[in-house]
Amino acid sequence: MKTMDVHSCARPAEVRLRHLDLDLAVDFDRKRLSGSAALHYDRMAPGDLLLDTRDLTIHDVENADGFELGEKHPYLGAPLRIRLRSDGPVRVHYSTAPTASGLQWLDPAQTAGKRRPFLYSQSQAIHARSWIPVQDSPGVRVTYSGRVAAPPGLRAVMSAVLQQDGSYRMDHPVPPYLIALAAGDLVCREIGPRSAVWAEPEAVDAAAREFSDTEAMIRAVEELYGPYRWGRYDLLVLPPSFPFGGMENPCLTFATPTVVVGDKSLVSLVAHELAHSWSGNLVTNATWRDFWLNEGFTVYVERRVLEKVYGRERAEMEAVLGRRELDRTMADLPGADRVLHIKLDGRDPDDGMTLVPYEKGALLLRTIEAAVGRERFDAFLRDYFDRFAFHSITTEQFLEYLRRELPTGVPLEEWMEQPGIPAGAAEPHSDALARIDREGPVNTAGWSTHEWLHFLRAQKHPDLARLEGQFHFTESGNSEILCQWLQMAVEGEYLAAYPRLEEFLYSVGRRKFIKPLYVAMMKTPEGRERARRIYAKARAGYHPIAQATLDGIVGTPGTPA
Ligand code: BES
Ligand code: ZN
Repeated sequence: MKTMDVHSCARPAEVRLRHLDLDLAVDFDRKRLSGSAALHYDRMAPGDLLLDTRDLTIHDVENADGFELGEKHPYLGAPLRIRLRSDGPVRVHYSTAPTASGLQWLDPAQTAGKRRPFLYSQSQAIHARSWIPVQDSPGVRVTYSGRVAAPPGLRAVMSAVLQQDGSYRMDHPVPPYLIALAAGDLVCREIGPRSAVWAEPEAVDAAAREFSDTEAMIRAVEELYGPYRWGRYDLLVLPPSFPFGGMENPCLTFATPTVVVGDKSLVSLVAHELAHSWSGNLVTNATWRDFWLNEGFTVYVERRVLEKVYGRERAEMEAVLGRRELDRTMADLPGADRVLHIKLDGRDPDDGMTLVPYEKGALLLRTIEAAVGRERFDAFLRDYFDRFAFHSITTEQFLEYLRRELPTGVPLEEWMEQPGIPAGAAEPHSDALARIDREGPVNTAGWSTHEWLHFLRAQKHPDLARLEGQFHFTESGNSEILCQWLQMAVEGEYLAAYPRLEEFLYSVGRRKFIKPLYVAMMKTPEGRERARRIYAKARAGYHPIAQATLDGIVGTPGTPA
């Protein structure tokens, strides 16, 4: 199958990477990884080996007849052309730039312990190329081994299986966006027979408590869709500047500390990243156009897990919240971004990553489930994960398989290509949330995070001072509730919450939280001034991916508005 990936210069139909052997040293002083990558490949046709790179310095390529680094594209980076001499592996000696888009180098002040620096990678979507010369397309799968030398006293981990000698190996073929590393003052606590939490010593105990249902979640997915195939499922809790909620790096999910809130109310994140061990890591989107195959399936599976572990009401509350957020997101998006099978030609794939592939994708699967019955759909999904295990597939391949195996009567073409939600879509329902719609804030003593979020999001013209007097949202220790409240505070110019707002923006770098806060501030002249002042101070602490997003919203500090 020849699939066109517009976000990679690789030509895997000619020469295709098969295995990668990384040998890297971490230099915190120069904010640089340096070392080598040995590349093993299959040669299907005569031609050069074409790799993606971004801001890499290539020192040498061993066992090749020469190499050439092409011109740099703003977000795709520069192609590296290697003239092959034989069919044997080549070894690229290289180092990364301090600004590598897929790495974040943290000063001690940005960590929980404040004593040691921290490094972590974030390769999805197309940032692996900023720290590995690789065919950086999700349609290309590689096995890999890695050895990472960290300074004394710091621990390095990777998204693979730890070997006796301290190196890591991934023997299943994975797309490059799933290759990951981190290094810092890390310790680990076992939380189950095949799971541990890695974190800084200051953060590890609370995280281990928060995530203690992990084994129950793994069993829940296994009962539904077949065995967990990756050996261990560990979690790494990162410092608060991590730009995402979570990242499904195989064997080692990366997670934001903002979900460690003490009551397990935000652990759907674990269900989500775990679910990717089937949808995404086992069966992978072949190109970023097909991203909904990763995320839509994962949100669907995530909610099935929540239902099994915490009951139907919890799962339905999350589904209703997701459904409402989808409507709010779509209201602000152009039609082209409201389709599942999105066109990304000429665009940075990070831009196409809205809630649409997540929630519209999950809604489609839920609609199919309702049409054919849960039992048949479960059997279909189990076979699907099996049939395409360790393969990357396109939307067309999925549709062909679905049409053949499970006729649904659902207008798939419309779901794929049309903006909006087709008629006949399933509607999630939660009694608890419907009661809030009817009755407002009564008996709030036992409310869950989800009920508070629903209540806050339903406010049209809130009296913020009164709400604060009653419920003290500004003091909330729950990041989701606090972020929702701060957004409302900015929109309603509720000054009393501004010190907390600033503190939040200086300490948290999760893009989903900080982006709407800056967007809200940018709507008024005073707000713009405040946003620019805060961003000028906060920017250095944000991840390059978050910086890129916020530069587009607030402007780059030091340049005229
Ligand atoms: N794989 C994504 C994160 C991602 C997507 C990183 C695209 C880079 C590009 C991860 O599984 C995810 O979806 N994370 C969500 C949390 C989840 C609970 C919806 C996030 O980070 O918000
Ligand atoms: Zn996901």
